Parts: sequence; C-alpha cells; structure tokens
Amino acid sequence: MNTAVLEHPPCTVRPAQPEDIPVLCLLKWQFAVGEEATFVVRASPADWMRDMLGPEPRLSALVAEAHGAVIGMAIITTRYCAGWVGPLFAIDDLFVVPAHRGHGVGKALLTGAVRQAFERGATFIELTVREDNHAAIRLYRQVGFERVPGITLMLGGDAFAALACHRPAEEVADAEPGIIAAGGHGLG
Ligand SMILES: CC(C)(COP(=O)(O)OP(=O)(O)OC[C@H]1O[C@@H](n2cnc3c(N)ncnc32)[C@H](O)[C@@H]1OP(=O)(O)O)[C@@H](O)C(=O)NCCC(=O)NCCS
Repeated sequence: MNTAVLEHPPCTVRPAQPEDIPVLCLLKWQFAVGEEATFVVRASPADWMRDMLGPEPRLSALVAEAHGAVIGMAIITTRYCAGWVGPLFAIDDLFVVPAHRGHGVGKALLTGAVRQAFERGATFIELTVREDNHAAIRLYRQVGFERVPGITLMLGGDAFAALACHRPAEEVADAEPGIIAAGGHGLG
C-alpha cells in the first residue's frame, strides 16, 4: 500500500471543538448542496453536540484550519460488525471549501482521519464515494485506498415502508406521504 503523506501540509488539522459546530453544520450543508442531496441534512447544532461530544459519541470530526479560518472537515464514524473485535472506522464526509481545493487540504484531512483511526486501534478504514467523483477517487487512490468488490444497496422511501409494514408501496405512499423523501439516493 502506498503510504505517502504530506510533509508540509497547507493547514493545521485538529479535532473539532464545540465552538466549531456552527461551521461544521455549514460545511455539511455546502457539501450536500454540491451533491444535490440536501435531504440528508437534518441535524441541528444540538444534535451535532450530542453525537460528537455527548456521553455516547457517534462521530468525531477533524477540521482543517488556515489563517484562523476553518476550511475543511473530515467526519469519522464507527460501526460494529459481528465477529470483529472493536469498531470499524469510516470516513463519512470529507469536504474542503472550493476556494482552498487543490492545495493538499483534502489529503491532510484524510491523513488526519487515518491517523486517528490507527491510534484508536484500527487496522483499516473504509468509505464510499460516488462513481463520478473523480477528484475524490483520485485522492483516495493516490494514498492507497483500494476498491472492494460488492455493491451498496439502500432501501428507502415507499418501498422501505411497504416492506416494513407488509403493505403495497402505493398504499403506504397514500397513507403516509411524508414518511421519507430519500428513496434511491445514498446518504454519503
Ligand atoms: C475531494 C476533495 C476533498 C479534495 O480536496 P482537495 O483539498 O482539493 O484535495 P488535495 O489538494 O489534497 O488533492 C490531493 C489529490 O487529490 C486529487 N485531486 C484533488 N482535486 C482534484 C481534481 N479536481 N481533479 C483531479 N484530482 C484531484 C489529486 O490526486 C491530488 O493530488 P495531486 O495534487 O498530487 O494531483 C475536495 O475536492 C472536495 O471537498 N470535494 C467536494 C466534497 C467531496 O466530493 N468529498 C468527497 C466525498 S467521498
């Protein structure tokens, strides 16, 4: 595996603090706008606070900072897998504000996320990326990420509710039109 890292990163990368939560919300929103997937953004600053810094944290965040401004973020989440000991680590959101792209900030954040997982005992880290996100894929390939076989499937919208409720999809849609609007789209 290629383990290349930046010798002179163009920013500092540090764990996010409570006062970073407003900017994390903003970066998440900008990311979602870019992906035309704003429906995935539902969390309030209070939700971020609980999930990041509460007694049972579900995510950790790194921010990239330059000249006192936050210019990017990486969100790391964990999941559990039967038969494995300890959590599996994933990079959920890697985002650099457009004006600062192409200068190594994304790579510095990615390196920071990998380092954090390593220090927490992980032996690998995973992520999903859209097939057409060539800039991100090139970055991931460059540092050594490899594609694993398989496809990610998602059940959402009326089909999700219909299967859960043992009812035809049209019936669920008529009865509970607001149940979910994200069918067929990824959340990452
Ligand atoms: C993907 C993203 C995080 C990269 O951040 P960045 O700071 O621009 O990346 P870096 O400057 O660290 O670039 C590192 C490598 O990534 C690749 N890369 C970055 N931008 C690229 C682009 N526009 N086209 C092709 N390759 C690109 C290159 O391999 C580059 O290495 P090189 O400069 O030696 O050629 C940034 O473009 C971004 O925030 N995109 C929108 C959000 C997103 O798609 N996130 C990933 C979701 S999985």
